[in-house]
Amino acid sequence: MKKIFLLIPCILLINLAFAQNFTDIKLPEPDKSGGKPLMEALNNRQTIREFGTEEFSVQQISDLLWAACGINRPEESKRTAPTAMNDQEIDIYVVLKSGIYLYDATNNTLKAIKEGDFRADMGRQDFVAVAPVVLVYVADFGRMAFVMDKKTKIFYSATDTGFISQNVYLYASSENLATVVLGYINKDRIVKTIGLSKNQHPILSQPVGFKKD
Ligand SMILES: Cc1cc2nc3c(=O)[nH]c(=O)nc-3n(C[C@H](O)[C@H](O)[C@H](O)COP(=O)(O)O)c2cc1C
Repeated sequence: MKKIFLLIPCILLINLAFAQNFTDIKLPEPDKSGGKPLMEALNNRQTIREFGTEEFSVQQISDLLWAACGINRPEESKRTAPTAMNDQEIDIYVVLKSGIYLYDATNNTLKAIKEGDFRADMGRQDFVAVAPVVLVYVADFGRMAFVMDKKTKIFYSATDTGFISQNVYLYASSENLATVVLGYINKDRIVKTIGLSKNQHPILSQPVGFKKD
């Protein structure tokens, strides 16, 4: 009986230690220099569906997200990818082995959303579970204030996601990484796993990783 009483606080302490580790991550400044010339990056752009399991450094995650839709004109808070009417309605959820984070471009931070490995929930193909980074593009229809009808919201958020995805493809090409954009996803499962609100709609996901040897 005594042993059980000792065991319970121990388990609580271990859980607390893990919980404390899962916090927001302040990203280093993105490196905006270097990379391959644009024409070379375009020439090498391709879909690759095989990933090595090696994890990205926080610098690589910062560079990747800045390329995707980071802020490139701070004085206007404008981004590397365009959005219809500058609504900036696409959020990027960053799904890592350690948990789910939300990219906060303004503060260059990964905001901790949920601890645990949920990569497999972000696509229906086996490789999604092993890619070190899975980006999930989620449109917030609540941010599309001047777009009245739902059809246009769907259209604009899909096109806006396409620009972000292509930025990621070009970054991957420039850095010799593997990536594939995914439309074959279980949107209900993504909504449930991330805990999205009724205004938030998953559009596509995109695993990124090192090329498999
Ligand atoms: C909107 C969109 C959705 C896609 N969905 C998937 C997908 O669910 N699974 C997959 O393996 N590839 C997917 N792809 C990747 C395409 O199959 C790939 O781009 C196409 O075969 C052309 O190859 P490339 O990108 O190397 O030029 C998708 C591409 C786009 C643009």
